[in-house]
Amino acid sequence: MTSWIALLYLLSAGLFILGLKGLTKVRSARRGNAQAALAMLIAIVATLLEIGIVDWRWIALGLVVGSAVGVFFALRVQMTQMPEMVALFNGSGGGASALVALATLWQVSVEPGAPGTLASVMGGASAFTLSLSIFIGALTFTGSIVAFLKLNRTLSGDPILLPGRHVINALLVAGSLGLGGYFALAVGDSSQIALYALVVTGLSLLLGVLLVIPIGGADMPVVISLLNSYSGIAAAATGFVIESPMLIIAGALVGASGLILTQIMCVAMNRSLANVLFGGFGAEPAAGDGGPADEYGPVRSGGPEEAAMLLDAAERIMIVPGYGLAVAQAQHAVRELADLVEKRGGSVEYAIHPVAGRMPGHMNVLLAEADVPYEQLLEMDRANADFKNVDVAIVVGANDVVNPAAQNTPGSPIAGMPVLEVWKARSVIVIKRSLSPGFAGIKNALFEGETTMMVFADAKQAIQGMTTELKEL
Ligand code: TAP
Repeated sequence: MTSWIALLYLLSAGLFILGLKGLTKVRSARRGNAQAALAMLIAIVATLLEIGIVDWRWIALGLVVGSAVGVFFALRVQMTQMPEMVALFNGSGGGASALVALATLWQVSVEPGAPGTLASVMGGASAFTLSLSIFIGALTFTGSIVAFLKLNRTLSGDPILLPGRHVINALLVAGSLGLGGYFALAVGDSSQIALYALVVTGLSLLLGVLLVIPIGGADMPVVISLLNSYSGIAAAATGFVIESPMLIIAGALVGASGLILTQIMCVAMNRSLANVLFGGFGAEPAAGDGGPADEYGPVRSGGPEEAAMLLDAAERIMIVPGYGLAVAQAQHAVRELADLVEKRGGSVEYAIHPVAGRMPGHMNVLLAEADVPYEQLLEMDRANADFKNVDVAIVVGANDVVNPAAQNTPGSPIAGMPVLEVWKARSVIVIKRSLSPGFAGIKNALFEGETTMMVFADAKQAIQGMTTELKEL
């Protein structure tokens, strides 16, 4: 029986790794997701068989209720709400790890009233890891809830900057880790151990809130990715506590991949992680960055008809999708327009910025939904090298990722962020509803460019209008 269980664990770990690999390519992402879900099911079944202390009726009930909630939200959640959903997942993972650690503490020390320190009951390393698991799990829980509330605008997306917050946070970290080490290694009385563990839980919960409230809404996706990593580390720590190799493997995979993703996002925004965590980005526009209040000079605007005339004369077209494409759900309309252009002898490609939209891979997912051929998606560097040969660049609901201020305005909050250099194309059509700023909250001089034509409309309606007009030319 034991070797069967070990084999199941091995199979599950292999499937987790294959699943992650599958998720790195659009083509294999669905398969990767299914493999990872199967791996999780196998891991749960193997664990239940191994431990064998559970009442199967409770497990069946848990499976039914959990699956129903999961299916309900999976069907209901909009693509643009995905980061919020991921925030809740991370919070649940962190909370679960902290609860398992607390339950273990209760089981091995408090309930039996075991004499001696926690370290003497379960070993020093496990006892200290238990306190770490409470610490990381609890702060991930409240940090993720705050991130969720900021993203769905229940809490303001503006950074909330408490005076002396760095000192308070440093004290909370030192207090939680110090007390955690103390109750794990030095306290001899089991009811005192329980009391200290609860104090550490409280301090860590507070720390999670205080760590995330100073971070602006624009940086929330990076924070969520980081919290994702924390939830993995908490799970891995809990795996050491309850001696579950499967939990250690799964937690380590989540922890490492979350960290790598965080790093990729920071590089794409040209920000250091420290700047994201402590910078209070978005608190106030830097002086001279052409902030939201700045007036625009003369802006040339037109309707779908003028835009279609530009397309009529163009051979090479580059579409630049952004967050507005997701809001308008314009991906199918864009595909239709692209098909029409191609039928008329033109070529269409898509320039994908790594942080366009509100989550990594947002644009790729939307375009894949509309069956846009993967070969037509160009990464940023390739697209930037090609813009000079492009007749018309169509910017669909993108703003920050095409803002020249990143290159020419040193004081701007997005200074140094790599951007798509659409202004190098012969003509630029920008589709958005108004001159409102994007996520970074700043003016975009592209809109005043001599070669730019603004089409002020909802992205889907504008693109559909352009398709109708082009058919008539
Ligand atoms: P944004 O700069 O946020 O601009 C989106 C634009 O879409 C807005 O200016 C808005 O203008 C327009 N829009 C909204 N609804 C629309 C609709 N129905 N039809 C047409 N236009 C619509 O988007 P972006 O260029 O994709 O840049 C993404 C931003 O998010 C960057 O600042 C990036 O750093 C940040 N961010 C992204 C990520 C990831 S992982 N993707 C992570 C962290 C931060 P109107 O209101 O005038 O229509």
